[in-house]
Amino acid sequence: MKNERGANPLAITRNDQVPAARYYDREFYDLECERLWTRAWQMACRLEEIPNAGDYVEYENVGQSFLVIRQEDATVKAFHNTCRHRGTRLLDDRGSCRDGIVCPFHGWSWNQDGTSRAVYAPELFEASNVDPARLELHECRVELWGGCAFLCMDDDAPPLRDSLEPFASFHEARGVEKMRAEWWYSTVLPVNWKLSIEAFMESYHVARTHPQMIARKSGAGDGAQDGLTSRKVGEVLTRAASSDQVIESSLYFMRTLGEGMASMVLDKDIRVAEGLRDMKLPEDPMQASLEWNRRLNDALTTWNRSAGIPLPDQNELAEQGLVSVVNYGFPNFFLLPMYGNAACYRARPLGPEETLFEIWSLTMFPEGEEPTERLRTPIPMAGDDPRWPELPRQDFVNLPRQQAGLHSSSFDSMQLSNRIEGMISNYQRLIDGYIAGLGYDKLLPAVQKVSGPIDDVTKDLGF
Ligand code: FES
Ligand SMILES: [Fe+2]
Repeated sequence: MKNERGANPLAITRNDQVPAARYYDREFYDLECERLWTRAWQMACRLEEIPNAGDYVEYENVGQSFLVIRQEDATVKAFHNTCRHRGTRLLDDRGSCRDGIVCPFHGWSWNQDGTSRAVYAPELFEASNVDPARLELHECRVELWGGCAFLCMDDDAPPLRDSLEPFASFHEARGVEKMRAEWWYSTVLPVNWKLSIEAFMESYHVARTHPQMIARKSGAGDGAQDGLTSRKVGEVLTRAASSDQVIESSLYFMRTLGEGMASMVLDKDIRVAEGLRDMKLPEDPMQASLEWNRRLNDALTTWNRSAGIPLPDQNELAEQGLVSVVNYGFPNFFLLPMYGNAACYRARPLGPEETLFEIWSLTMFPEGEEPTERLRTPIPMAGDDPRWPELPRQDFVNLPRQQAGLHSSSFDSMQLSNRIEGMISNYQRLIDGYIAGLGYDKLLPAVQKVSGPIDDVTKDLGF
C-alpha cells in the first residue's frame, strides 16, 4: 500500500501475518490515536444512559473527552468537554446539565445546547474574546443507530449509516433498535485493544477455550472437530448425528449459551423450546434439524408476540439468511443477536497495553414496559471476577497470557488462517489504510467489507 502520510514501520506486508509489535509499540499506538480514532465512528453511549432532556454522559477515548447530551427536542448533541476559557474539563461521568454546564475553575457557563450562558466579570476581557459566538462549545458529529449514540471527530467522514453497512441493515431486521439494556459490565484488561477484540473474531478458539460449548451431554458428533471447522457457532453446535439428538442437542446449546453469557438466550426462550421437546421429527437428521428449527422459530415468534414483545418473524429471518450470531462493527464494536436478545461489546484503549472492555446484555421488552430507569456506568471488575458470565471470563483469562507472550523476543508475528482468522487480517489492514491517510473513497468500501459475521476469510480491501 502506498503510504501517503509518513512511515508506518509496522504495516502488514503479508496478509496472514500480523507483526507482534502492533500490540505494544508506543509509536504505532500514537499513529492509531492520531489517524484512526480521529476519523472512525465510535459508539459513545447507549441511549438509556441519557433518557431525559438535559441528561449528559461523558465519553472518553484516547485522551479526547466529549459530552453527549439529550436535548429538549429529544435529539442528541455531542460537544468537546473543554472549557473555552482556559481548557478545563467541564463535566465528568454523567448527570443533568439542564441548569447549565458550569466550569469548575472560573465559573463560565453554557446551556445544554452548547451556547454560551454566562462569563464571570466579562468586562475584564477584550470583547472579541468573550463574544458568545466564539465561546460556544465545539460540537462533534453524533448520529444515532441501534439504540446507541455514535460520534465521529471528522466532519468529512461518510455518515454513520454508510459506515455501518451491511451490519446496520442486518441488525435492524433483527429488531436491535427495540432492544434495551438488561445489564452492563466492564473490565480493564492488561492488553492492547486489538487483542481484546480479536478474541471474539473467530470461533476457532471455542473447542479449547469454551469446552462446555462442545462437550455435549448428548454426545452428538465429534465436538472438538466441529469446533475446529465451525463457520457459524450456532449452526455447528446444534448439529446432531441422529434425529433423536436434535432436540437434546439444541436444548443443550441454548442452556449452555444462556448460562455462559447470562444473555442472548434467556429463560423465556428455553421454556418455549422445552415445551416442544416431545415433538416427532423426521428420521433423517438433516431434515429433523430443519424441522426443529422451523418449529422452534415459530413457537418463539408466537410466544413473544403474545407477550407483547415485537419479535421479528424468526423463520423469515432464517429464510433471508439473517442468522449470523457474532458480528463485528469496525473498529471496536460487536453485536451478538439471538432471538429477541443480543450481547453487545465495546473495547476502548487506555494505553498501548490496557483496554476498557464492556459487555451489555440487550433484550426486547413487551411494548410499553421498557425499563425507564437511567442506565449507570459499571465499575470495572477483574477479568477473572466470578461475577462475569463464564464464557467472556474464559476469553478474558487467556488475554493477559497472550499479551505477555507477544513480548517474547522469539515472536515476530502472528500467523493467521486465511480461512477462519481472515477478519483479524482484514480489519488490521484497514487500520493501516487509516494510518496511511487514505481517502474515504478507498476506506468506506473497505469498512463495509471488514464489518460483519466473524470467522471471515481474508479479503482484498482494494488497497
Ligand atoms: S477555565 Fe473554565 S472558566 Fe476558566
Ligand atoms: Fe470466546
